[in-house]
Amino acid sequence: MYSLSTVLSLASILIAGYVLLQIAYNRLFSPLRNIPGPFLASITGYWLVFVDLAGFRTTVIHKLHLRYGPTVRIGPQEVSFASAEAINTIYGQQTVFMKAPIYESMSLQPLGIFSIRDKEAHSQRRSLLSHAFSSSNLQNTEPVIRERVDYLMQVLRQSKGSSVDALERFRAFSLDVVGQLFLGASFGALEAKQPPQFLHDMDKVFLISGMQWTFPWMFAVMSKLPVPALQDFLASKQRVTDYGKHAYEDYLRINKSAPNRKDLLSKILFNSSGEAPLTDRETYTEVGNLVFAGTDTTSTTLTYLCWELTRNPELQTRLRQDLQECQERSSPQGKVSREVLDSPLLEAVINESLRLHPAAPASLQRITPPTGATVSGVRLPASTIVSMQCYTTNRDAAAFPDPDTFSPDRWLKSGGGTAAMKELFMPFSKGTRACLGKNLAFMELKLVVASLFLQFGLKAPPQTTDDSMAMRDHFLVLPKGGKCDLLFESLNGSVDRGHANAELL
Ligand code: HEM
Repeated sequence: MYSLSTVLSLASILIAGYVLLQIAYNRLFSPLRNIPGPFLASITGYWLVFVDLAGFRTTVIHKLHLRYGPTVRIGPQEVSFASAEAINTIYGQQTVFMKAPIYESMSLQPLGIFSIRDKEAHSQRRSLLSHAFSSSNLQNTEPVIRERVDYLMQVLRQSKGSSVDALERFRAFSLDVVGQLFLGASFGALEAKQPPQFLHDMDKVFLISGMQWTFPWMFAVMSKLPVPALQDFLASKQRVTDYGKHAYEDYLRINKSAPNRKDLLSKILFNSSGEAPLTDRETYTEVGNLVFAGTDTTSTTLTYLCWELTRNPELQTRLRQDLQECQERSSPQGKVSREVLDSPLLEAVINESLRLHPAAPASLQRITPPTGATVSGVRLPASTIVSMQCYTTNRDAAAFPDPDTFSPDRWLKSGGGTAAMKELFMPFSKGTRACLGKNLAFMELKLVVASLFLQFGLKAPPQTTDDSMAMRDHFLVLPKGGKCDLLFESLNGSVDRGHANAELL
């Protein structure tokens, strides 16, 4: 019989040997061995997990690209790309890459459009949901959005010189818009005294999913520990799903006797294309998905845009004058006019905010097929995780000179962007899995930004600094300070553009 200490020694030697062999394989024999990158990344994926949990994944990978070039090995089986050429290969219409398995941990079963990996299942779901986002449906939603924008302006006017957490107000606004559009009723977040729990829960979903995916054993232990604060934290993911469920149940109760309803959910459930309708569970998963996808993304974009303009008072004045001139020319006393919404400067300011502060800046991970694949001339074996992050492509110095400077003029001088700018600019991703809500997001962004700068002067109080606004990301962005206090000073003689022409769907 062997003694316990002999068994432990043998086990330690075996484990150490296995680890050394793994390291030797990853460094010397792996097909990825010649791809540049930090030493640690070539031997373990855990370094990136900790960077990710701390909220620095995107900025760290960006620095690696600045150091090593457009192709970087960021894990033993993971490569990050940053060239225009790679975008089409990885994300384009003909791509052979599926979303990486980690997406399945991002939501509970049944998976919704965002997490479905199988190409055919995704394409069916996407064509079903696309009905809601058709341009005619979107046109019909404009009055509803205008009504909520007007209410947001009223709420901001009530601040009367005190600072307001713009991030929280914009989140409440975006949540209400999604509720109003998809379910026919606002969630009432702008009216509520306290922000809904849902908004806090959303911040934690990607963090929890990341932990669950990487350390399933630790997650299983944590979920058994009788620590109320921990259990409350972990329950966030379930609460986000429940939110979609309860919203859908309310919707069914209210709308049972309203056959002619015009909300966007009806367009998904009762379209004429003949596709199989979704089950109730699938439907409320998608409701949760849409609420999730449409809330923090839009509100973060608005927040960083406003903050940038408080740092550029001259640009703020220029934008206001431009919007006022457009408004005077078209509809001096009426609602924000089409000419205002078509202002090239307005579009350039929004594009530049999306470029420097994309709400989803992080790696969009995909996996190579069983046959392997070639990206930017690099041969990759089966099951390699590949990704690109728009935080980096949007800062490509050749396409966007002086890339860290907020300069909407780069879009104006190039007539809406050079071919290279358009290719590399991907805040909504590209191809088959690109954002379904892009046009809706643009409509919201334009209406809010135009109304805001026609009616308010924006300033940042001392507590809102470069440091408090530094980016932290867990797939989506949040400022380090968790808020963005701003002053909204109502302009003298500004027209309350009221609820003119607002009609409900
Ligand atoms: C400024 C606002 C927004 C930004 C920056 C944004 C960005 C993105 C990005 C980068 C993706 C791809 C994610 C991935 O591949 O993992 C995505 C997907 C998606 N977005 Fe958005 N989004 C915005 C607003 C919206 C809105 C308002 C909606 C709808 C209410 C929406 C619905 C979706 C959906 C359904 C998907 C999944 C598409 C699919 O997999 O087929 N998004 N979005």
